[in-house]
Amino acid sequence: MAADTSPLRLGVNIDHVATVRNARGGGLPDPVRAALLAAQAGADGITAHLREDRRHITDADIERLSTGLAIPLNLEMAATEEMLAIALRHRPHAACIVPEKREERTTEGGIDAAGQHARLAPMVRALGDAGIRVSLFIEPDPRQIAAAVSLGAPVVELHTGRYAELAGADQVAELRRLADAAALAAKNGIEVHAGHGLTFDNVAPVAAIPQVRELNIGHFLIGEAIFVGLEASVARMKALMEAAR
Ligand code: PXP
Repeated sequence: MAADTSPLRLGVNIDHVATVRNARGGGLPDPVRAALLAAQAGADGITAHLREDRRHITDADIERLSTGLAIPLNLEMAATEEMLAIALRHRPHAACIVPEKREERTTEGGIDAAGQHARLAPMVRALGDAGIRVSLFIEPDPRQIAAAVSLGAPVVELHTGRYAELAGADQVAELRRLADAAALAAKNGIEVHAGHGLTFDNVAPVAAIPQVRELNIGHFLIGEAIFVGLEASVARMKALMEAAR
């Protein structure tokens, strides 16, 4: 894939620090401390998903992240009135609208921007009017890109979960879908992000897609931090991303 010298940002998702904290109750380990350490190690932004069931990140975490970070906060949120009100109250740098099912373990699949146009349109507009950079977490599918264009979303985040799960020729085909979707979105003036399931082993081909400007990575980085520390985990991911450009 063509080399590109434009910077590729790393958003570190700290949800699973909160997962470990919540396994015991109490305040430790503190996801805000993780966010500050990730920033020191080279993260360009912090991502946090306030799920409707509050299984990891809590309202109090969002409050503290909103006031305590020197790097941008990207709030992942379901398309609900409750989450919209929270986003408008805290005004994070960015809000990524994700599908959410209570029974899922993580965000499975992208949002159906094409099928939910009427519900999403006022939300995208309200967030944008508040100065929040709206992104839609979608599958790498031309229909979904077209829907993002018609919704006026400035950013899409391409779901890399399927790419991460596949192997061999199937993975190559999925990478091609990601690259084609990134090119189509960029051609339409949409900034392209990507994320889900990325690891040291699979990040390079996605980082090499020239139109991709940001990767949001969480579960693997927090897991790796158990063995090497959070700063080393984040710094190595950043180095691998830079090497792939
Ligand atoms: N981007 C989005 C929109 C997500 O919902 C998630 C998972 O919360 C991620 C990125 C990070 O995925 P992972 O934890 O698998 O790195």
